[in-house]
Amino acid sequence: MKKLAIIGANEFQDPLIRKAKDLGFETHVFAWAAGDVGEKTADVFHPISITEKEAIWQVCRDAGVAACCSIGSDLAVHTVNYVQRKLGNPCNPEITDTVATDKFEMRRALRAAGVACPGFLKVSVPPAEADLAGLAWPLIVKPTDRSGSRGIFEVNDYAALCAAVPQAAAQSFRREAIIEEVLTGPEYSCESISFAGEHHILALTKKYTTGAPHFIETGHDEPAGIPAALVPGIHADVKAALDALSIRYGASHAEFRLGPDGRAHIIEVGSRMGGDCIGSDLVYLSTGVDYMAAVIHTALGQAPDLTPRRVPRAASVRFIFSQGDLDELERIKKDAPDCLWRVSWPGSLDGAVTDSASRHGYWITQGELL
Ligand SMILES: Nc1ncnc2c1ncn2[C@@H]1O[C@H](COP(=O)(O)OP(=O)(O)O)[C@@H](O)[C@H]1O
Ligand SMILES: [Mg+2]
Repeated sequence: MKKLAIIGANEFQDPLIRKAKDLGFETHVFAWAAGDVGEKTADVFHPISITEKEAIWQVCRDAGVAACCSIGSDLAVHTVNYVQRKLGNPCNPEITDTVATDKFEMRRALRAAGVACPGFLKVSVPPAEADLAGLAWPLIVKPTDRSGSRGIFEVNDYAALCAAVPQAAAQSFRREAIIEEVLTGPEYSCESISFAGEHHILALTKKYTTGAPHFIETGHDEPAGIPAALVPGIHADVKAALDALSIRYGASHAEFRLGPDGRAHIIEVGSRMGGDCIGSDLVYLSTGVDYMAAVIHTALGQAPDLTPRRVPRAASVRFIFSQGDLDELERIKKDAPDCLWRVSWPGSLDGAVTDSASRHGYWITQGELL
C-alpha cells in the first residue's frame, strides 16, 4: 500500500485525508496533538508540529512515504515542499515558498514580473508620515506572513495607521507589516492546478467579506457570476501572477478584485488550494473535477485527471457569525434540506469573531441557488 504524508489535521484538512484513504493510500498525518478530527481519520498520526520540517522528513523517509501534500495552509507549504524535494518529487522551486507566503516578497515578485500592483511598503514600526508620501489613502495594513484575515486593517488617516501597524506586526511571525494602497471592485478568487508549468484554471469563486476595516470572509460562491466576456482576461492575469511567483506544480488560489477596467488585480496568491472549503468541496461540487485527487496525483508526479466526475452544480459556503446566520441555516434545513452538503456547527455563538479562525461554524450548499 502506498503511503502519503499529509501536513495538518484540522477540520479543513480532514477531507484530504479521507480522499487519500478512498484512493487507497495509507495516510501519515502530521500536526500538533490538539484533538483535531484528522488525528483519528489518519491511518497513522504523528504528533509533530507542521513547522518541524526536518523531523517530519525523517519520519517520512523511515516510513517510506511516496509523496507529501496538504490543503489550504500557507504554513504547511514550506514543510510539504521540503519533503517533496527530499523525495525527489516534482514541486515548485524554493523561491515560490517565499514569494507565495510573504505578502511583501509577493508584491515585489509580482511587480518585478510586470504584474500591476498597488503601492506598498514594508514596516515593523509605524513609518514617518513622509515615508507614506507616495501612497494614496485609504491604506490597508496587514501582517506580511499570516492568513485567515488576522490583523487586517483599512485605515483612513495617519493616526489610525500608527495604531494599526503594531497590531498587524504583532500578528506576524516576523513582526512585520505591509502597508498597501486599496484596490477597488468586487472580490473573487481563482482556483487552479498546475503541472510542469502549465496552469489549468478550474473555477472562479465569488468572495464575500465583512468589508472594512477587517475583511473577514463570510462566504464563497461558485460559479462566481462574472460576465463571460471578462473571463479570458482574468485567466490571463491570474496565469501571469502564477508565472511571476514561479508556480509550476500543484494547486494555487489567487485572490483578486475585479477592477473598473474588467481585469483581475491581485490581492494575494497561495501556492496551495483555497481554504474555507473552496479547494476541498466547492471546486468539486461546481465543476465535477476531483481537485483533491488532482493534488495528490500531482504530488506523486502524475498529470492530474481533470475529467468531471459529477454534474456541476452551483456551490456555496456560508460562515456562521450570528443568530441571523443560524436562522438562515434553519430555513435551508426546512425548505431545501437536499441542498445541504455539509454543516459544521459546534453549537455555540460565544466569543467575538475577529478573524477566520474565530468564526462559529459553516454550511455548504449545492444545487440550484437558493
Ligand atoms: N490592497 C488591498 N485592497 C483592497 N482590499 C484588500 C487589500 N489587501 C487586503 N484586502 C482585503 O483584506 C482581505 C484579507 O487580505 P489578504 O491579503 O487576503 O490576507 P489573508 O492572508 O488574511 O487572507 C482581502 O480578502 C481583501 O478583502
Ligand atoms: Mg486572503
